[in-house]
Amino acid sequence: MSQQPGPQHEPVMLARMTELLSPALAEPDSVYLDCTLGLGGHAEAVLRANPGARLIGIDRDADALAFAADRLAPFGDRVRLVQAVYDELADVLAEAGTPRVQAICMDLGLSSLQIDTADRGFAYAVDAPLDMRMDARDPRTAADILNTYSEADLARLLRAYGEEPAARPLARAIVAARASEPFDTSARLVDLVGAVAGRPGRGRRTGHPAKRTFQALRIEVNGELDALARALPAAVDALAEPAAGRPGGRLAVLAYHSLEDRMVKRVFRAGATADAPRHLPVPASELRPRLRLLTRGAEQPAEDETAGNPRAASARLRAVEKLQEVAA
Ligand SMILES: C[S@@+](CC[C@H](N)C(=O)[O-])C[C@H]1O[C@@H](n2cnc3c(N)ncnc32)[C@H](O)[C@@H]1O
Repeated sequence: MSQQPGPQHEPVMLARMTELLSPALAEPDSVYLDCTLGLGGHAEAVLRANPGARLIGIDRDADALAFAADRLAPFGDRVRLVQAVYDELADVLAEAGTPRVQAICMDLGLSSLQIDTADRGFAYAVDAPLDMRMDARDPRTAADILNTYSEADLARLLRAYGEEPAARPLARAIVAARASEPFDTSARLVDLVGAVAGRPGRGRRTGHPAKRTFQALRIEVNGELDALARALPAAVDALAEPAAGRPGGRLAVLAYHSLEDRMVKRVFRAGATADAPRHLPVPASELRPRLRLLTRGAEQPAEDETAGNPRAASARLRAVEKLQEVAA
């Protein structure tokens, strides 16, 4: 089933993701929500490992959904796919008649289909239109942002979302360059970033000088951090409570940069902490948190995985299990 022709995306930490989610999906009629279906690599493995489970697969990218639909067709009516942003997951589940689910996967970021399709504009290695929309119906492209944001707003987003040490001089250079000609394709931006931010003394950096700028633009175009901030608590809410011999629902998240991983860590830690109001006389023995951490810190891929798939190198995996609906 997995030897599909066409675009490929190597699912990251596939065995570990499957191992973390499967104990919650052992019973018949379990529901697995994949919030970032992509090309369906994780979904296929989880469905195969859990023959009683059904999948609800979400992606905001219509191309990804079309490929995943082909790949997952052999699973027939065990699969239901929906084009949506993952912060709409409560609505998607309500529509499907399953407000609570046994397992949720979030594999954040981009698929190889998006990175390797030059005219989507995500890659800095090829000259392509500065688009970067995951959903082609969205109105605003990366070029729109570069050509219309004020210098202060450009500096803010380069600093906040790209953690770019040269955010201010770079924003100034972008505003000066667009005055002579608006930005439309990536090569001119890559050259500009190299000239301004690639200079020695512009902070410690690893990788291509344009990596941070492209990350910042992509996050802004797709509202990625805002969507994640809304989706994480919604996903925790959607996990089923333990019941009649079934363990609680499990949520596993793969993040690829520190801004996302920090958000995941914060939400998981808060849920795993019993937090009783101080003025209430609750004995410590009765305090139980809402979540249990399944991973110790963030797990990372093994070296043999990153050797074969360098895109996995920045992955950080965290997972939790629901203990009860709300902290006692
Ligand atoms: C890393 S890929 C997932 C790959 C997938 N796990 C696999 O094995 O094929 C991430 C996917 O999430 C989608 N995505 C990113 N942010 C999203 C969001 N806010 N809502 C819905 N889908 C999103 C992207 O379009 C992309 O297809």
